[in-house]
Amino acid sequence: RIGNSTNIKWHECLIDKIDRQNLLNQKGCVIWITGLSGSGKSTVACHLSKILTQMGKLTYILDGDNLRHGLNSDLSFKAEDRAENIRRVGEVAKLFSDAGVICIACLISPYRRDREACRKILPNGDFIEVFMDVPLGVCESRDPKGLYKLARAGKIKGFTGIDDPYEPPANCEITLKCDNGIYASPSAMAEKVICYLEYNG
Ligand code: PPS
Repeated sequence: RIGNSTNIKWHECLIDKIDRQNLLNQKGCVIWITGLSGSGKSTVACHLSKILTQMGKLTYILDGDNLRHGLNSDLSFKAEDRAENIRRVGEVAKLFSDAGVICIACLISPYRRDREACRKILPNGDFIEVFMDVPLGVCESRDPKGLYKLARAGKIKGFTGIDDPYEPPANCEITLKCDNGIYASPSAMAEKVICYLEYNG
């Protein structure tokens, strides 16, 4: 029995991840960017994707906001729906990574246990967690979509950082934060991720 299904068997194919990686000349992996709304997750993801593409690497971005227009349009922002959101995106990211693609997932993913569950379904080293360590005050002052303002006015309930929790990673691979109070540019942040990828093969 797997989940709610019975009588199902795994079917092996004739080519595998190694074959696909050899074809693409790269290693498939998942770069998971977590952080508050307005912390710059999507912006860094776009820069990262652009730089990697220029390097001849195949990437694909899974953006939380975008996926909620389709695959996850049935989910709310309640804790159990956020957990299902992260579970689904983790599974999709795993498929991309198995296809040999560098998959960049950018979601608030506020709960540590949900992110850790995604890490567990991937081979060791293939889940690279990136924390956008940007204080709430900074995200709120940016407020690119005006959502913090609505949340403060009580017009959005359960907004992450305002009246819903965000659990920062305890042991992530990369932290992107301000140095001496000055924020690095999104492309400089993306370069830091590239350095990690190159250093780790
Ligand atoms: S989660 O927590 O990982 O399931 O969220 P995610 O799928 O990444 O979606 C986050 C975007 O949804 C918008 N939004 C909210 N965010 C947080 N809390 C509440 N209640 C909420 N309602 C709508 C918001 O634009 C988030 O986008 P980003 O890009 O993070 O700003």
